[in-house]
Amino acid sequence: MNLDKDYWENRYVEGTTGWDTGYITRPIKEYIDQLEDKSLSILTPGSGPSHEAEYIHQQGFENIHIIDMSELAMDTFKKRYPTFPESQIHVQDLFEHTGKYDIIIEQTCFCALEPHLRNQYLNHIKSMLNLNGKYVGLLFQHMELSDTDGPPFGGDLSYYLELFGNHFEIKTMEDCYNSIDPRAGNELWFSVG
Ligand SMILES: C[S@@+](CC[C@H](N)C(=O)[O-])C[C@H]1O[C@@H](n2cnc3c(N)ncnc32)[C@H](O)[C@@H]1O
Repeated sequence: MNLDKDYWENRYVEGTTGWDTGYITRPIKEYIDQLEDKSLSILTPGSGPSHEAEYIHQQGFENIHIIDMSELAMDTFKKRYPTFPESQIHVQDLFEHTGKYDIIIEQTCFCALEPHLRNQYLNHIKSMLNLNGKYVGLLFQHMELSDTDGPPFGGDLSYYLELFGNHFEIKTMEDCYNSIDPRAGNELWFSVG
């Protein structure tokens, strides 16, 4: 399977976007709500509908950036939230993005990438973190690890601990206690840096 730009563009054209919750998910909202420093630079990679970015910007975090290679997803976001700064919307392959951020927020981007890209992805995420930057967010668990059955492609706690441990210092990686109802019991929350 080639999960290229055309693949993702078509998912938005067809409307087969089961990942689109329509609102910011509770774990990310609660994480954002406890941040005090509004000057933090934040990135949501594979941002798609970007409900998180909309909320984050509305809370006064002006330095929030989004990346997605789907033009349709980004155009739809621009129409829904026209006051989001255009220069902070990156319509590109995230592997080509060279910005640096204090916080990178994960939600269904890792699981959308073919598993053979995972080390490359984590290396790239690390390269986009400022000194003392953090990569935080959600990972699906209890799913098959396969190059053919996704996306989404899964993993479990022991697998993620080893994989992420090869790239980052793991501060938290545990069952997510505040998942949205449809994902309850199926997610881990992590914070690494
Ligand atoms: C499963 S969707 C998740 C969207 C969003 N994170 C959410 O939770 O609603 C995965 C997104 O990643 C984007 N994507 C996949 N590979 C990408 C890449 N290499 N560069 C940029 N975006 C990518 C797709 O276009 C899609 O919007």
